[in-house]
Amino acid sequence: MSTDTAFFSVDRVSHAYEDGAAVLRAIDWSIPAGAFHCLVGRSGCGKTTLLKLVAGLVQATEGGVRIEGQAIQGPSPKVGFVFQTPALLEWLSVIDNVLLPISLHRRVQVADRGTAAELLELVGIADLAKRHPGQLSGGQQSRAALARALVTSPPALLMDEPFAALDAITREELQDDLLRLVALRRTTVLFVTHDIAEAVYLGDRVAVMDQGKIALTASIDLAKPRVCDCRYDPHFTAHCQKIRSAMTLHTVELD
Ligand SMILES: Nc1ncnc2c1ncn2[C@@H]1O[C@H](COP(=O)(O)OP(=O)(O)OP(=O)(O)O)[C@@H](O)[C@H]1O
Ligand SMILES: [Mg+2]
Repeated sequence: MSTDTAFFSVDRVSHAYEDGAAVLRAIDWSIPAGAFHCLVGRSGCGKTTLLKLVAGLVQATEGGVRIEGQAIQGPSPKVGFVFQTPALLEWLSVIDNVLLPISLHRRVQVADRGTAAELLELVGIADLAKRHPGQLSGGQQSRAALARALVTSPPALLMDEPFAALDAITREELQDDLLRLVALRRTTVLFVTHDIAEAVYLGDRVAVMDQGKIALTASIDLAKPRVCDCRYDPHFTAHCQKIRSAMTLHTVELD
């Protein structure tokens, strides 16, 4: 279902790559401005394809995507993208990597450097600004990629398993950093993950994709802002169990 007040509206979107069968089948999704929605699903079910469609990087075979009511024609400056691998440029320093979305379009100003430095501070790697990506750990690279996606203050972020390669504690820290930053900016987020607990911790709403269809959507009514301890709440575990069973049964429908 989609409405005109949504930030992202995905309307009856189907997609098939040139050489194959349908990867996405009649997807309807509506993400209100400022909401944090998560998408989980088994490997190969079509999550990245849907994210690329919403980003305007791939065109739908049928149906379409609207941003604030406008049909998308290609990548929008209103939307930042964080890939599964941090994809930083090795020949640029960390701060210049963060500034890349600006320097690709115009001359970097002193104020932009200030913004980038503030973001590095917020994600906890201000002291590494002059290093090169190869001199950072995986978690530090993920933090730099997050700062880069936020440097233009996009109203929306699309994130494709950005923390998949990290250890559990670093991952939890980054989840909290992300929630803090997007709450501060009222950013609309669509976040793809394999990790059910990550989706429940982050999301206002979680959708499960199965073989190119949305098999279930569940509203997550845990208190916000989320705090680490809520992971041990029986209510949290109940949400995870319902989503997990939907991933195995394919048929469960929650509220
Ligand atoms: N460029 C492409 N050309 C043809 N088929 C593709 C292309 N990209 C993806 N596919 C196929 O489309 C299907 C969905 O791929 P997609 O990358 O969207 O899955 P995913 O849910 O993101 O998987 P994962 O969790 O492993 O990242 C897969 O069967 C994949 O092989
Ligand atoms: Mg993927």
